[in-house]
Amino acid sequence: MEELEKYRKEIDQYDKELVEIFEKRMETVLKIISYKKNHGLPIFNQNREEEVLEKAVGSLHNKNYKEEVEGLYKEMMRSSRKFQSKYLFPYNIVLVGFLGSGKSSVGKALSQLLEMSVLDSDILIENRAGISVRQIFEEYGEKHFRQLEREIITEISHGKNTIISCGGGVVLNDENIENLKKQGRIIFLQAEKETIYDRLLGDESRPLLQNNWGEDTIEKLLMERLPYYEKAAHLIVHTDGKATDEIAKEIVAKLLDEEIA
Ligand code: S3P
Repeated sequence: MEELEKYRKEIDQYDKELVEIFEKRMETVLKIISYKKNHGLPIFNQNREEEVLEKAVGSLHNKNYKEEVEGLYKEMMRSSRKFQSKYLFPYNIVLVGFLGSGKSSVGKALSQLLEMSVLDSDILIENRAGISVRQIFEEYGEKHFRQLEREIITEISHGKNTIISCGGGVVLNDENIENLKKQGRIIFLQAEKETIYDRLLGDESRPLLQNNWGEDTIEKLLMERLPYYEKAAHLIVHTDGKATDEIAKEIVAKLLDEEIA
């Protein structure tokens, strides 16, 4: 028993030292963020993360711990990214745009890049109603859906440092936009009708396009809604021909530029 106590004391001492070093590391991370921010440099750098990981593993005396050190460093870099995001984006990043403009997939990519949690208004509505958006439209009508949407938007607008992907029609209601703007920056993901047409081809989950599927319907809706998206947006990002990750990085860069200005 005495021996066990002795080992535990050793562990306590190592942990104390680790925490002290970790605090120092975080302080340096803060210095790096403000340097990068002031010099307009990209904040999140995958290559550098890999380099840090390699160096850490390389400095191990006993290679038997390779897997554990890799796990520890991956977690440390994840939490460092989260820490940087909290500091850089103390607000919600709200994605709006026409159906099929990529809000959900860009939301997920941003969430991975920034280690921020992501909320999707349509998914929250479906979870609460217990049926799909399409079924809500079919059984209760669009008016009821918009009411549920308003409720969800009011609730999720209160948080911060969260990515919010909104259903395409959220911008039609001023109250939604007012709420989302309280603690959020609104990004309009713009896409041309051809891109939207290609993305939605064969997708039967969109009730608004159920009966009149085609480029004409898309164009008509797009024209009607464009002024709403433009009015709501702090930033506009063009998505045509771009990969999801590329769009996510562009949003981060634009938001940081905006901060400097
Ligand atoms: C809608 C878009 C849908 C969903 C609902 C209504 C709209 O979301 O909220 O079908 O009015 O544009 P997505 O834009 O994510 O498809």
